[in-house]
Amino acid sequence: MQHFTKIIPAALLAATAGAAGAQDSRSFEVSLPLGPESHQAVGVLKFGEELERLSEGRLTIRPQYDNALGAEREVVEGMGLGLIDMGITSTGPMGGFVNDFLLFDLPYIFTTPEAAYGFLDGEHGAAMAAKLEADAGVKILGWMENGFRHNTNNVRPLNSPDDLAGIRHRTQESRVQVDTWTALGANASPMAWTEVFTALQQGVIDSQENPVPTIYDVKFYDVQRYLNLTQHVYSPAPLMMGAQLFSSLSEADQAIVLEAAAIATPVQREASQRMEQELIDELEGLGMTVTRPDLEPFRERVQPVIDQWKDTVGAELVEAAQAASS
Ligand code: MLT
Repeated sequence: MQHFTKIIPAALLAATAGAAGAQDSRSFEVSLPLGPESHQAVGVLKFGEELERLSEGRLTIRPQYDNALGAEREVVEGMGLGLIDMGITSTGPMGGFVNDFLLFDLPYIFTTPEAAYGFLDGEHGAAMAAKLEADAGVKILGWMENGFRHNTNNVRPLNSPDDLAGIRHRTQESRVQVDTWTALGANASPMAWTEVFTALQQGVIDSQENPVPTIYDVKFYDVQRYLNLTQHVYSPAPLMMGAQLFSSLSEADQAIVLEAAAIATPVQREASQRMEQELIDELEGLGMTVTRPDLEPFRERVQPVIDQWKDTVGAELVEAAQAASS
């Protein structure tokens, strides 16, 4: 497991140096959970390209792949503390910082990517980003995505929730996700992303869930037999910067950072959606058995989880997200 040992304190130096001049050169380290060929990397690299172009070469990035700077929760904490410059992460660990982010763990809320984009790019996404900035010191620059999440396991195809009986399933570090998979009938336990591949390989767990491009990027086809298109949550992957670091930039450079993210976000989403379509066949070719279950019994089984968590997440927020999909 990697922790903070590799972190270069660039962000700390920048934050303590006060507001930088418009002409300063800066290089930001960016943490990614996945590798250089992933859908996350498409967004981060496009952001870096635009940043460099708009700043005429003064502002650059140094991507750090495969959680080299730490697991996702640590990266969010690190950005808030000024120890890590930037990162893209799934929202799984963020409900631990701001309850509103548990919204993305509630099952079957968003039914299409477009519904999620409308919600995230409007007033609700902006309000959630403002809360994260106030409570965790982390600024969302753009709502990039991981995509819809699906189950993989080694035990059996999932034609109905009953097929999850007895399966040892990894969730992200979210109480809502543990409740969801328990309601579906699995033996659910939370685990940091950095431990999942080894746990599947060693047979400590049987099952996990992630979007198709992620399943492909980390080669889960080497340790998982069944891909079940459960599509149970839409998973954003915001591109973020430590709020202190962002504030230390000149106004002109802040505008450049925001513009680069605004250009890169739709490019990343488009790549993610294209990869989702293309890589299902690839995974089948690599030996995974693909199952497309009827989702209705899954939806029915998890309705009590939505009822149980709605007030904690915020009833208005949940209803607005559901309305975006209707
Ligand atoms: C996870 O399952 O922990 C995440 O989806 C990993 C990621 O962000 O790629």
